Amino acid sequence: MTLFPSATQDIPPIGEVPRHIAIIMDGNGRWAKKRFMPRVAGHKRGVETVREIIKACVERGVSYLTLFAFSSENWRRPQEEVSFLMQLFLRALEEEVANLHENNIRFRVIGDLSRFDPQIVDLIRRGEALTAGNRALTLTIAANYGGRWDILQAMERMLAARPERRSGFSESDLSAHLALNYGPEPDLFIRTGGEQRISNFLLWQLAYSELYFTDTLWPAFDAAALDAAIASYRQRERRFGRTSEQLQADSVLERPREGTRSPAAKENA
Ligand code: IPE
Ligand code: IPE
Ligand code: MG
Repeated sequence: MTLFPSATQDIPPIGEVPRHIAIIMDGNGRWAKKRFMPRVAGHKRGVETVREIIKACVERGVSYLTLFAFSSENWRRPQEEVSFLMQLFLRALEEEVANLHENNIRFRVIGDLSRFDPQIVDLIRRGEALTAGNRALTLTIAANYGGRWDILQAMERMLAARPERRSGFSESDLSAHLALNYGPEPDLFIRTGGEQRISNFLLWQLAYSELYFTDTLWPAFDAAALDAAIASYRQRERRFGRTSEQLQADSVLERPREGTRSPAAKENA
């Protein structure tokens, strides 16, 4: 059993602010290229955006933020770029984990860590342990992550947990073993950089997420751009298979529309 409702098994709670935002941070290379800089300058600048978006999510009351930092397919990039990204990740771990902890942020990493340098794995594990009790936001970095890898590793762990069992599995039997089993499914998925694809991100969990694509390149994505994504999200009618009429009849499930927040709530945000 997982702690969180699955969009296919139950109707998840719908709030004014998405509880979980998952982002494909794309467009670093193009941002740099437009400025006649090397691609890696875009990655460096992208780390600053990560800082700004984490802060904005805390301020807006988002509970879970999941960022796609390196896909299982990104090893196909030129070796110099891959090693630059690893160095950047290492440095960010060294420099940022204490800040996250000070800001009551829980830090997690999902992905196949077996390909990472042991020094990176050690910093990840220590950061996760240090911040495990924090509650302002759960920040998950997806590193060497692939949605297909995740489903396969979950299946293997599910089978290993009950070797005698051959059939009759439920969705929650599997989802309990997914890498992100400690959080709800994303309400809002954002991809920057103009491409409209999932690129093997959270394949299982995105089943009923609202999808938002923007041409803004990741280094240029800021709090205002995040607000535009959240505003779009608020306009969506999340039906989860039901009809619009059913939603209107069931006022308990109706969520406040944009502009209905009280000024006091805004001030406190
Ligand atoms: C996203 O930006 C960062 C990673 C995938 C690590 P890109 O590096 O993909 O930038 P573009 O898409 O080439 O502009
Ligand atoms: C997706 O971006 C992965 C990350 C942002 C980490 P890519 O730039 O690798 O995606 P594709 O190759 O364009 O689909
Ligand atoms: Mg890209």
